[in-house]
Amino acid sequence: MKSELLSESEITSALKGGYWRVSVIDETESTQNLLRTSNPKPGDLITTEYQSQGRGRLGRTFAAQKSTALLFSFYLEPKCAKNDWGFLPLLVGMSVATSLTKITSDAKFKCKWPNDILFNEKKIAGLLVETFDNGVIVGVGINVNTTQEQLPVAHASSIFLETGKLLNRNVLLAEILADLTPLIAQWETGSNISDLIAAYSHLSATLGQNVLVELPGGKELGGIATSIDSSGALLLDSGELVTVGDVVHLTSKL
Ligand code: BTN
Repeated sequence: MKSELLSESEITSALKGGYWRVSVIDETESTQNLLRTSNPKPGDLITTEYQSQGRGRLGRTFAAQKSTALLFSFYLEPKCAKNDWGFLPLLVGMSVATSLTKITSDAKFKCKWPNDILFNEKKIAGLLVETFDNGVIVGVGINVNTTQEQLPVAHASSIFLETGKLLNRNVLLAEILADLTPLIAQWETGSNISDLIAAYSHLSATLGQNVLVELPGGKELGGIATSIDSSGALLLDSGELVTVGDVVHLTSKL
């Protein structure tokens, strides 16, 4: 499947100016690692055609064949209390789901707490958020034009496989950033977090579901996922507040 190559000028002109400084790199180990060693400034973003050692959450790998996925990392120094930075991945997930819904005219893109984007309960994108220096590096990997044979794991999927549409990754990246920028500005004011929680809840595939949460270290929690708090933590009907872990959806709202 032939994808348009990433283009700094195409992304930058689609963004129509603003906050982000985008660099396109042909190949790198991991955009997370490259940004970390580039003395990043807030708004710096690196995207690449291929990562030889792409990283996922909780020490996992994230593999994608060359030019099939949209892979990028950016650096931010959120202007709000560090305790609330856990909400940032939810904002990024919202932007990814909203942008994909707009571009494909298909409303089935949903956010799985904490860091996945699903289509029909299949993972098509993941986020990795790491603190660095005075801020955070956010990494996003989206299986865009990936075919069945190119998928790294059988339970994953791609936008192409789910919608039949081949997307231009330059347009998609610009759309995600255009969506994310005002959300971050709104979040940083700290004044209307309940609106953001409501918007996230609307896009959530997890809330309302009977879930199993696998905590780091092996402990498991079960219950109905009821809400999200202002730090991005997941509240279960048992009263447990989960800040990190893997969620398995035991019932599907679909
Ligand atoms: C996950 O699903 O566990 C998170 C995947 C995050 C992958 C992205 S791709 C761009 C950035 N660079 C990396 O090495 N990882 C993130």
